[in-house]
Parts: sequence; C-alpha cells; structure tokens
Amino acid sequence: MKIGSVELPSPFAIAPMAGMTDTAFRRLVKRHGGCGLVVTEMVSSEGLIRGIDRTLEYAEYTEEERPISIQIFGGHPEKMAAAAQVVEGMGADIVDVNMGCPVPKIAKHNAGCSLMREPSHAAAVIDAMARAVKIPVTVKMRAGWNDGDRNAPTLARMVQDAGAAAIAVHGRTAEQSYSGSADWDLVARIAADVTIPVFGSGDCIEPEQIIERMRSGVQGVLVGRGVLRNPWILAQAADLAAGRPARLVTLEDRGRFLLDYIELLLHERVDESRMVSHDRWVVNKLRALGSWYTKGLENGSHLRTAINGAECLQKVRDTIATFFSSEAAVSLR
Ligand SMILES: Cc1cc2nc3c(=O)[nH]c(=O)nc-3n(C[C@H](O)[C@H](O)[C@H](O)COP(=O)(O)O)c2cc1C
Repeated sequence: MKIGSVELPSPFAIAPMAGMTDTAFRRLVKRHGGCGLVVTEMVSSEGLIRGIDRTLEYAEYTEEERPISIQIFGGHPEKMAAAAQVVEGMGADIVDVNMGCPVPKIAKHNAGCSLMREPSHAAAVIDAMARAVKIPVTVKMRAGWNDGDRNAPTLARMVQDAGAAAIAVHGRTAEQSYSGSADWDLVARIAADVTIPVFGSGDCIEPEQIIERMRSGVQGVLVGRGVLRNPWILAQAADLAAGRPARLVTLEDRGRFLLDYIELLLHERVDESRMVSHDRWVVNKLRALGSWYTKGLENGSHLRTAINGAECLQKVRDTIATFFSSEAAVSLR
C-alpha cells in the first residue's frame, strides 16, 4: 500500500496516542514486525514554528521507525503550512493533521475535531499545507462533532479534493469521546466513496478484529489501545494475513518488553529542567503504559498497583521482573 509516493510495508499501523506513542514505544513495537506506519503523538503547529524544545522533542523519531508520520494540530492555514514545512525539514515521510481530538484545550483553538465543524476551513488548511510541502499530507478525523453532525463522509471528499493523500477515520464523534463503539459502517462507506487510501480506527483489541476490519474495504487499520495492551497485535495480524497462526507471546516476552522500554527511555533526550529527574520521568512513563498494558492480563491489577506504588525505578524493574517470571511458561494465546 502507498500513501502518495510513500510505500508502506504493511497496512497495519500504530495510531497516534498523546503521552503514549513516544519514539521508544514505537521502536519496540516496530521491532516485533507487522507495523507498516508509525505516527507521532500530536504536536503543536505553533510550537514547531517557534522551535519550542518540548514540541520538537515530541516530534523526534529514529531512522528505524520509517516510514514515519508526524501529526500536527492547529487551525490556521498559513501556520499549518509553515509547520508542515518544519516537519518536512525534519525529514519525516508524511505530515498528518489532527482533526479528531475532542479535548477542549485543543478544540477551542479551532484545532483538533473542531475543524470538522467548519469543513471549508478544514479543507483550506489542507490546501495550504499540500501546496507548501512535497511530502504527503494526511488527515485523521472522527465520525463528526456529534450525532447530529456525522459529516466525515463530506469532509473526507473535501480534504481529498484539497490535496490530502490519505485519511484515517475513528468512527466515533467528538461528543462520544471514547464511549459506545466505533462506527465501522461509516468508515466503510467513506472507503468506498473516496479514491485516496482510508485507514479505519477503533476498538481492535484482538488481531482477528484487524483482519475482519480489513474486509470492510479499508486500505489499512490504525490500532491504538490494542497496541498498548498487546504490542504484538500488529505482528499477530500480519501472521494471520499471511495465513499463519498468530504468534504466541509468553509472559516472559511481555516482561521483557517493559524492561526494554525502560532501557530505551533512559537513553531518551528529555528537557531535564522540566523534570524532577530522568528516573522519575521514566517511572511516570511506565505508570502510564502500565495502566493499559495490564488490562486483560491475569492479576494485571496487582501489577498495576505495584508499579504505581514503586518509589524508584529499580523497584519498578524488580516488580516487573518478579511478576513476569513467576509464570514464565504461560502463554497468552
Ligand atoms: C491515550 C490516547 C491518546 C490519543 N491521542 C491521540 C492523538 O494525539 N492524536 C490522534 O489523532 N488520536 C489520538 N487518540 C485516538 C487514537 O489514535 C484512536 O483513533 C482511538 O483511540 C481509537 O482507536 P483504538 O480503539 O484502537 O484505541 C488517542 C487515544 C488514546 C487512547
């Protein structure tokens, strides 16, 4: 599959997730295989233009993550075009526009999902960006702002005409936030209607669901929370797509993933002036991932509580090592 001229080795991708899909996490998922595209956490167009260190940190990536898409948010056409040029200058393969974030802090600035409330303006943003850069410009949207305005099909066509090279649709409205379930019928209708590739997003927790969703006619599937619970889900979906049984993941593998994540985070560049200490930042990152990773895991709540209660990084490491070695032979599939 291709987005513009960018070839994706697989149609399965990690969805952008603020606070979660940092470069260390993306690298580890990618190393397990099956992942055709990674997207950064959303970064501010203003911050990119002004060269704010913290924004640039969120946009950092490594070569092994390619093809890499940097997601930006903002609502001003010229500023979004300038930010796209910064992204292109950073060497990213794709620049993605967030039109799905329902959080008031973002939406009130005419960015995120509030762009869906003004489709002509949203299309003007894409038009300005597509004229400003050579790399593909893509859009990630929701079903619409609320149930009375599920306008993703209209907006999809408009951004396609404005120059978008692909779109991703999370089949919930902004008002729904994460309640209810994603409307994949809507996603399928959009995929049938536009000529650019469409990624569907929402509620794939098992690799079989990813394969099932591909049958609805989308060109790709973005997986968010399912990857946080099971970073092998894309590799397992690739196994199934190739006609093989999904690979087994042992508890030992799952423990190793968290320990490897700690090691990579320890070598990340972070703006120390903001941090109590680098170790403390790593502990907080492990707590954030732990709240998802332990879901669906036997006695997962015990591990979650233990990580949250660990007072230092070494204690987090010990907790993980002990928990996952206790039944190392047990597989999860
Ligand atoms: C913690 C979290 C952070 C997210 N941050 C972003 C973001 O920065 N940009 C974005 O477009 N979507 C974001 N999303 C939405 C996901 O990309 C995805 O579309 C949504 O979670 C539905 O897919 P899922 O059911 O596979 O998680 C976020 C979701 C979660 C759970």
